[in-house]
Amino acid sequence: MSALVPPVGGNQVSTDIAPPRPTINMERIAGLAARAGSMVEQIRGMLLAPEARKTAPTYSTAQLAALCGMDKAHIAYRITKEDLPAGRLSPSGGKRVFGLDELRRWTRTYRGEKMRPADRKAITIAVGNFKGGVAKTTTAMILAQGLSLRGHRVLAIDTDPQGSLTTLHGLLPEAEVTEDMTIGPLCDGTQSDIRYAIRSTYWDGIDLVAAAPFLFSAEFALPARQMQEPGAKFWDVLNMGLESVRDLYDVIVIDTPPSLSYVTINALWAANGIVVPVPPSGLDFASSAQFWSLLADLGGNLDGQSKDREGKAFDFLHVLLSRVDASDPAMPAVRQWIQATYGEYTLPVEIPKTSVTSNKAAEFATVYDVQKYEGAAKTYKRAVEAYDSFVELVEQSMVGAWQGQGRAHR
Ligand SMILES: Nc1ncnc2c1ncn2[C@@H]1O[C@H](COP(=O)(O)OP(=O)(O)O)[C@@H](O)[C@H]1O
Ligand SMILES: [Mg+2]
Repeated sequence: MSALVPPVGGNQVSTDIAPPRPTINMERIAGLAARAGSMVEQIRGMLLAPEARKTAPTYSTAQLAALCGMDKAHIAYRITKEDLPAGRLSPSGGKRVFGLDELRRWTRTYRGEKMRPADRKAITIAVGNFKGGVAKTTTAMILAQGLSLRGHRVLAIDTDPQGSLTTLHGLLPEAEVTEDMTIGPLCDGTQSDIRYAIRSTYWDGIDLVAAAPFLFSAEFALPARQMQEPGAKFWDVLNMGLESVRDLYDVIVIDTPPSLSYVTINALWAANGIVVPVPPSGLDFASSAQFWSLLADLGGNLDGQSKDREGKAFDFLHVLLSRVDASDPAMPAVRQWIQATYGEYTLPVEIPKTSVTSNKAAEFATVYDVQKYEGAAKTYKRAVEAYDSFVELVEQSMVGAWQGQGRAHR
């Protein structure tokens, strides 16, 4: 860099008139950085206060029974057998309250046929779309929470330097995330196994690999390695790094940045399945169309480079109609384009545009974080039911993929 900067002071022409000073020089920017940094520290202090830490909700017998596919009477009977957690009785009057860890022991027991067979590997799901604001991060968090409620062990990986998925897990990317909690060292080659980066979270059953703004450097590190190490595959780094944890988790959910970046390619290459949220608006539809052509071009190209294996293929691909605004007059037409284009890839469920999600996002949470919804019960129920069926459709695809892995082994 220094070779490009001309020496200062040597042969300057002396003049009486001082050159106009730029108003916003680097000194000022540094001052701004210091101010922003100290503000972040203050916010961190607030977030670290014990009362402000994010906590998972608790669950009623009815919720537990629904997730187990049983009725409340059966749960009451099973509790008398004393082989599953009995929760605790609420102080007010005989109602049972279950913690998330307790609930998950129940769901693992009662949903046995949907759990990962011991000899199969975690299913990796990338949530992608090159456009921002289409509900990628919300969808990734919903999948992580919804699948863990249903008994699965989840590893959530944030690959977006903006760190929104990290924030949803109650961590402040700028203040609380260090490089060794991210995929950074994997990308620059100082680590080859993702395990160094995994941390537990406020949510029992979800572990997290976080992201923060410095992860932008991965966009330079990945292609640089390609130049330096012969045989390096810049697109396969995350996939290889995940190999050792595919026996430790049931599902790995990857949130991606809103662009076709080196990191996004790695996320897609590591995935068994892709979920593409598309809101039914003309612009979002157009940019989702680009996603496929870029993926197909790139995939064909990379397949050509990796001669040592079969071409990349996915077990499943789901287009999810997200943020569907039933009152938008243009919506039915766009929904039709989406269905006509994506056919069987379109999931038979739509996520309504709902104030439950948008209000809660302001508090860094999803519908699954809500203990008691303050607004209209109907609105909340509609949103939760849509997310629940989305999660269960994806779970069906996971079960199908595990069966496929079994056939591949034979
Ligand atoms: N179903 C929904 N209804 C209303 N708002 C939503 C819904 N899903 C997501 N949002 C909001 O839309 C914004 C963008 O969502 P986000 O998941 O961050 O998208 P992306 O990751 O694609 O940029 C967020 O403020 C989020 O809370
Ligand atoms: Mg996002």
